[in-house]
Amino acid sequence: MQTILIQLDTDGQASIFDRVVAVDSGVAQIFSCAGVTPENVTSLVHGAIFTRGPADLKHTAIFIGGSSAAAGEAVQKKVLKAFFGPLRVSVMMDSNGCNTTAAAAVATARKHMPLAGVPATVLGATGPVGMRAAELLAAEGAQVTLVSRTMERAQAAAEAVRGKVSAAVVLAGAATDPQQNESLCQGAAVVVAAGAAGAVLLPAGALQRLPGLKLAIDLNAVPPLGLSDVSAMDKGVTHHGVLCYGALGVGGLKMKVHRQCVASLFESSDRLLDTQAIYQVARRTAGIVEQ
Ligand SMILES: NC(=O)c1ccc[n+]([C@@H]2O[C@H](COP(=O)([O-])OP(=O)(O)OC[C@H]3O[C@@H](n4cnc5c(N)ncnc54)[C@H](OP(=O)(O)O)[C@@H]3O)[C@@H](O)[C@H]2O)c1
Repeated sequence: MQTILIQLDTDGQASIFDRVVAVDSGVAQIFSCAGVTPENVTSLVHGAIFTRGPADLKHTAIFIGGSSAAAGEAVQKKVLKAFFGPLRVSVMMDSNGCNTTAAAAVATARKHMPLAGVPATVLGATGPVGMRAAELLAAEGAQVTLVSRTMERAQAAAEAVRGKVSAAVVLAGAATDPQQNESLCQGAAVVVAAGAAGAVLLPAGALQRLPGLKLAIDLNAVPPLGLSDVSAMDKGVTHHGVLCYGALGVGGLKMKVHRQCVASLFESSDRLLDTQAIYQVARRTAGIVEQ
């Protein structure tokens, strides 16, 4: 029986990126639906679950994408609500690459060091990628500071992380320029920069002025880069004693994780690949073994 991935995209045009990755993940057929909303998704789900018998539903899966993570989450909620009994298929949500990118970034950090008790700062922490990176760092036991340009947004993001990770140790910080961001990175062993494309978050020379810093990850690939001392291509390169990864350096793992996740959807009909589940795939893909 052929594998079918039903792409539910919340944008007006379904993502070509997600379709290419689906092909590279070995999917036989991709049915792409654009302009998907919580209001129109239920009949699409019914088309997925009423066509094959329960034993064969593992050959059908749903991928939720689009440029808005909030819209993707709203669609995911409605998709799960449409399932009943054995009539369900596996689901992955990765709007704008938010889950696979955050998972790849944190797995990259975790590969180099245990994160329990480690002070970590996430810059640009209020976006879909930053919030998920903060959540995954907190779930690994790191003491996470979420930084935004406004304290209100930082506190709201910190509260959201507390809602997802009950034992989370998270703080909020506000910084309106790269120098203020640098002050908030003092004492951090790990910094993840997840600011908007082209937004500079740390100034040149900052790595030298952050003595406790061991690992810096910048997810912005669009010049000017988020961390001025880190190149987009850096992949475990040491600058001023700090292990550095740029967006393209993390991108290889991100792509592998995306492909592994899509392929694993067809192993059963009840898989839900959300932030935490995608992170577990990232950990395995990165070769992290429990000590
Ligand atoms: N490598 C990959 O495969 C991959 C995949 C997906 C995304 N990305 C990259 O990951 C990064 C994060 O993605 P995202 O979608 O979460 O980003 P986003 O939502 O566009 O931006 C993240 C946060 O950056 C802050 N920000 C916006 N403009 C800023 C400015 N001019 N100066 C300083 N801060 C600013 C905002 O926080 P406040 O308003 O609260 O300050 C915003 O919430 C982006 O650079 C994106 O390109 C990479």
